[in-house]
Amino acid sequence: MAIADDRSNWLLAGWLAVHRWPLTMRFQTRRTLALVLLCLFLFGALIYKINNSPLVNQNGILREYLVESQVSVGTRPGTRTILLWSSFFGNRRWSLPSDTLGPQQFRDDLNCPVYQCELSNRHDFLPSLELYDAIVYHVAQPFPLLLPLPTRRSPHQAYVFALMEPPGETKHQLNDEQHFYNLTMTYRLDSDIVWPYAHVVDNLTGARVAPSRFPYWREPPALGSWNDSTVARLWHTKTKMAAWFVSHCKTLSEREKLAAALQQHIQVDIYGQCGPLNCARDDPHCNEMLDTDYLFYLAFENSLCTDYVTEKLYDALQRHIVPVVFGGANYSRFLPPHSYIDANRFDSIEQLAQHLRFVAADQQEYISYFWWRQHYRLETSSPFCELCARLHQSSWTHKTQSYNNIESWWYNGCRLTSHIRF
Ligand SMILES: *[C@@H]1O[C@H](CO)[C@@H](O)[C@H](O)[C@H]1NC(C)=O
Ligand SMILES: *[C@@H]1O[C@H](CO)[C@@H](O)[C@H](O)[C@H]1NC(C)=O
Ligand SMILES: *[C@@H]1O[C@H](CO)[C@@H](O)[C@H](O)[C@H]1NC(C)=O
Ligand SMILES: *[C@@H]1O[C@H](CO)[C@@H](O)[C@H](O)[C@H]1NC(C)=O
Repeated sequence: MAIADDRSNWLLAGWLAVHRWPLTMRFQTRRTLALVLLCLFLFGALIYKINNSPLVNQNGILREYLVESQVSVGTRPGTRTILLWSSFFGNRRWSLPSDTLGPQQFRDDLNCPVYQCELSNRHDFLPSLELYDAIVYHVAQPFPLLLPLPTRRSPHQAYVFALMEPPGETKHQLNDEQHFYNLTMTYRLDSDIVWPYAHVVDNLTGARVAPSRFPYWREPPALGSWNDSTVARLWHTKTKMAAWFVSHCKTLSEREKLAAALQQHIQVDIYGQCGPLNCARDDPHCNEMLDTDYLFYLAFENSLCTDYVTEKLYDALQRHIVPVVFGGANYSRFLPPHSYIDANRFDSIEQLAQHLRFVAADQQEYISYFWWRQHYRLETSSPFCELCARLHQSSWTHKTQSYNNIESWWYNGCRLTSHIRF
């Protein structure tokens, strides 16, 4: 038995001896293979790391970023639909060319860069109110009486707080409207969609310069280094000081008192409801008179509210007359320097009147207020272009939001006192 055992042991040892080498060999091959794979992996990782290092491949990184951002930050595919809930002071189209606008009109009529939108004032344009991407409410008018507000809203749709009037003209109980609006669309520069009466555009580059919180303006040229023959000629025929066209006589800003105080020092002709003179708005002679007869145009706002600058000012800028402004805006965010005279830069009416007399008497000085016209032009645009673009942003580039206390945001922009005393 012992011998047999020895034999089998020997046989086993022999078998093992014969087979050991290939076994170790197989084991070693696997180890080598694993090592090679590990090295390859590490090498690959190293190459990847080097390739993605800004030191080596900044262009590649930039390209990848741009391709990705085009896909996701750019426009979401599909058309966005906007419903105009109420009319705009009786104008159901909000001055748009038709009741319903498609992408083609957004592109061709409104000149929108992002135009994949539809807009309608017909509430049955889509089968359910929850399907609209945005519903626009005109806050300078009450909610339409016979039109109950939507009972359900989709978490993705935006309710838009839209108006062009100052807070004093808001016709809503805003403290009842907490967490109702998602987007603001007003003249305020801190609105989600800024809706100014006009833009100042650089004529050379076509870029919109203002309104902007930090506009970059060209420097006005040195006095006398530049001339405008039309204004030079008109200066001789302008024999009257200031014209004021006004229809609301008692205002929050008390501009009527400012005008009356100014009248004590210089000639101020008041046209319309609040003064002795009349000139029909549609009479072209009224506008010509601003070119030929008057040196200054009073553009006094009815309330002193942040960024509140109305179309009267822009109308005056289109003519050969220097506007005298009074309002709550920081005008340097709206108009080129030395294109207007801001009453709030003066401490008293006497100083303002003195400055106006000085500018009126000096032809070169007067002409210097028109320098900006060689470089800038005024342009209007539709706020619905910006709303359309906003609705196309991917959800992760703009946060879901609603205004908790829209009343305090909206009312905080106004004040009752001005710098100039009168
Ligand atoms: C008006 O706006 C300009 C441009 O943003 C700024 O530099 C200036 O300080 C502002 N003035 C006042 C009085 O806030
Ligand atoms: C500007 O031009 C007008 C005529 O076109 C001329 O009467 C006036 O003297 C000129 N002013 C200056 C400063 O060159
Ligand atoms: C501004 O540009 C338009 C064309 O874009 C041109 O017709 C106009 O004359 C230019 N205005 C000035 C003052 O250069
Ligand atoms: C709009 O506000 C409502 C109410 O706060 C909210 O449920 C919804 O998600 C908001 N939508 C967007 C798109 O911000």
